[in-house]
Amino acid sequence: MNLPILYAAATLVLGEVLVLCLRRFVPRLGRGLVLHGAVGLAALTIGLGRSEWFRDDSRLMAALTTSTLVVGVLALYAVLDASVLQRPGKDRLTPRVPALLRELGRVLAVLAVGLFALSVVHGIPLSAVLVSSTVVSAVIGLSLQDVLKNVFAGISMQLEAAPRVGDWLTLDGLPAKVVEMSWRTTRLRTNEGHMIVEPNARIADSRLTQLGNGTVPVAFGFEVGLPYDAPPAQAKTALMAAAASAPGVLGKPVPQAMIREYGDSAILYELRVWTRQVDHITVFRDAVFSRIWYEVHRAGLSVPFPIRTVHMQDEATGRTESAQREQQRIVDLLGGLVLFEGLAGDAVASLARCTRRLYFDAGERLVEEGEPGDSLFIIDRGSVVVTKASDSAASANLELAVLSAGSFFGEMSLLTGEPRSATVQAEGGCEVLLLCKEDLAPMLEGDPTMAEVLCRAVAERNQATEDAVARRRARLDERGVAHDTGSILRRVRHFFRLPGG
Ligand code: CMP
Repeated sequence: MNLPILYAAATLVLGEVLVLCLRRFVPRLGRGLVLHGAVGLAALTIGLGRSEWFRDDSRLMAALTTSTLVVGVLALYAVLDASVLQRPGKDRLTPRVPALLRELGRVLAVLAVGLFALSVVHGIPLSAVLVSSTVVSAVIGLSLQDVLKNVFAGISMQLEAAPRVGDWLTLDGLPAKVVEMSWRTTRLRTNEGHMIVEPNARIADSRLTQLGNGTVPVAFGFEVGLPYDAPPAQAKTALMAAAASAPGVLGKPVPQAMIREYGDSAILYELRVWTRQVDHITVFRDAVFSRIWYEVHRAGLSVPFPIRTVHMQDEATGRTESAQREQQRIVDLLGGLVLFEGLAGDAVASLARCTRRLYFDAGERLVEEGEPGDSLFIIDRGSVVVTKASDSAASANLELAVLSAGSFFGEMSLLTGEPRSATVQAEGGCEVLLLCKEDLAPMLEGDPTMAEVLCRAVAERNQATEDAVARRRARLDERGVAHDTGSILRRVRHFFRLPGG
């Protein structure tokens, strides 16, 4: 049989067996056309190289060898790409090495083997090739400046893994999804179905907020202006309620309501919420802002930002209308309390004028145990916790009661002149009305019901406190007995050499 054909056939068979094995073990290799091409070219080069007719045609052989080397390196790169570079990265979805970088690697591999073939196979000195290629690249570089800028921007974006195909981002404030990234451009689709083709360099330069693809929660801040006379605790509660009920808001990480600054006409709050709904941010923002409006209204506050509050001056009384409304509210509140049941209407009204409204944030102390004091507090909104310090440093404070709107406290020091018998602390945000001893004294003299209610409260609360202290002491004593019994038992076991001694 003819020897060149034998060589060619053997190369072809061996090569195809190798391709078959590779395709079996490297699933991402696909149809492997470049591998078949490389095998075919290798077989042709070896076959013709052995034949007498072509062996001396050096130009044909050099061209064939160069083609085989180039296609061969492409085939090798395809195997490397499929088996290593394309393997999924940490997120298990996208390839470990971005597409653009893999393409760059392919071009560099072909360039390197091309240079090698020019110098070794064609005998052209490498320095000549490099000089001419430098001149050519300078010319190309100048004329393709913009294109290259985009290509390098694309490469740097790929290196920083920012952003990826499938991710959502806001580009100059406009939400859009990345659908394709090429050497030169990035294609984005907006929620309205508009396709935007942005040069990579512009994407790299612009103010870009990456939102991811919804697998990791992202936070959005909603800025709302609320009136100055709304206590922060009440405003924050309304905002948190809006966050809790708005669709798409995650429970964890927990939403946060914070004051950002004191604005010109309103206190500016920020409600920060987390969501995975990055594909419909406009709808999401609408849902949260709408809920804020409803919750804020239900809490009795004015419509969020921008706010213009016009103060109407009532010239006859010199009071503002809102102050009059507030006064009426206090009269209604005091008139409804058992404490002031015996007072006539105008006495309640004059007492209401003596009150001072005080606001407390969650955890703030309204009254401190042991302090002197002679004022009475009436809770208008929220609740407070009454605690008594423990007599031993080891045990926690004793909780005596939780008092809510409509209850009063501070009557003990007011009536007896003794230091405050307990500490009173705001549970959430709370509002109280403060009445001084001087304002209450004339009422106490003229109204026996008030004195009776207050004295009964003092007696009942004193009793409750004593009971609570006694209960705790009994519990501690029980624990002490159990502890002593245990230690005596251990000593007895030790003395009688019993197990556990
Ligand atoms: P005063 O002692 O002036 O300050 C602390 C207040 O806590 C006290 O008045 C009562 O009004 C209130 N207080 C004390 N003990 C109790 C209790 N056991 N239950 C409810 N309130 C209490």
